[in-house]
Amino acid sequence: MQRLIRGTILHFLGDPGTEPAPASWQLFADGALLVEDGLVRRVGEAAALLADAPEGTEITDCRGKLILPGFVDTHVHSAQLDVIASYGTQLLDWLTKYTFPAERLFKDEAHGERMAGLFLDRLLASGTTTAAVYPTVHKQSVDTFFAAAAARKLRMLAGKVLMDRNCPDYLRDDVAGAEADCRDLIARWHGKGRLGYALTPRFAPTSSPQQLAMAGRLFQEIPGLHLQSHLAENLDEIKWVHELFPAQRSYLDVYDHFGLLGPRAIYGHCIHTDATDRVRMAATRTAIAFCPSSNLFIGSGLFDLDQARNAGIRVGLASDVGGGTSLSMLEVMADAYKVLQLKGQHLNPWRAFYLATLGGAEALSLEDRIGNFAVGKEADFTVLDFDAIPILKHRSGIARDFAERLFALMILGDDRAVAATYVLGELAYRRP
Ligand code: GUN
Ligand code: ZN
Repeated sequence: MQRLIRGTILHFLGDPGTEPAPASWQLFADGALLVEDGLVRRVGEAAALLADAPEGTEITDCRGKLILPGFVDTHVHSAQLDVIASYGTQLLDWLTKYTFPAERLFKDEAHGERMAGLFLDRLLASGTTTAAVYPTVHKQSVDTFFAAAAARKLRMLAGKVLMDRNCPDYLRDDVAGAEADCRDLIARWHGKGRLGYALTPRFAPTSSPQQLAMAGRLFQEIPGLHLQSHLAENLDEIKWVHELFPAQRSYLDVYDHFGLLGPRAIYGHCIHTDATDRVRMAATRTAIAFCPSSNLFIGSGLFDLDQARNAGIRVGLASDVGGGTSLSMLEVMADAYKVLQLKGQHLNPWRAFYLATLGGAEALSLEDRIGNFAVGKEADFTVLDFDAIPILKHRSGIARDFAERLFALMILGDDRAVAATYVLGELAYRRP
């Protein structure tokens, strides 16, 4: 079965950089995407694809709308929808006061099932088709998440949160139990369909050295696993890590010591790193999830994108909900722009949309499967409507060129702009 989707098409072949390099993207004002068996068969000018379309090709006309590869959210907590918009704390108090009590509810499998469905449906409604996800410490929270992702045919990474100290008793695991849970979840979900397992030590303060060592062993032992955690988000957190691990030079060095860096490892935040850390991240090909909305909301600090990219580190964008305030990668892009303004940097729209698509796929080492419309990639895409939001319609209507329209979309857009989202070439969400 072939399907042809016609509209304005934009996708990226590489990082456009700070002075946008047009060779890094393809833009077809009247373009088309040909999908066969869920994969990209061809992309280009609509006229050419229509002329060659075989009899029986199903044609979906989205002229006037923008077709982009599905957004990639490189760090998000599926168990924190209840935590969004929680008032008045910074990281460590925020965890204690709001986050741990919300995660406690996932002991109940029915709650986990309900919330996983709600979470994934909200991702699709925001145009996001792949994410690196933190459920909770409860094994059943991972089962319900993966089941919900499989039912929607989504490419997703997730894993049981590891946490055996410095947390409430009701969320504490132990090394042996956590290892058994990880092995069982990996056996049942890792590599099944589009799902991948990510070892998920929450962050250094909530895992004992023995638990971090266990995670490192599994990471080295089992091929193809991902690993995700938090790094250098907040100054009090960093001070605490130095007290807990006095022998380690830096927070990053704690993870390095236990074998937790590598090309399939991604760390959220990484705001307060030093040059030595960045050299080590680049050398080990460890990636960063840049979480601007969360960093503003929890008051954690301002990430330096140029510094990370100039060091040669892959960076993806991330909502970090519930620290972040929206699942919409458009809103995350707008916050990234504002964070970088305060660093004296200017995030051009080409680079922002790259980071939210191919850049995210690269940061998760998934660029062989998703991230753009290269032939053979999985056909996950979203259809965006400039006219759905009155102020965006006005602003993009007077834009002088496409870059200006794209910038208006990233600054003024949100989930209202998502007209439809497709997974493996099939309609998965249509705006009511
Ligand atoms: N550090 C450890 N856990 C968390 C979390 O759930 N959210 C954020 N933003 N930072 C963390
Ligand atoms: Zn997080």
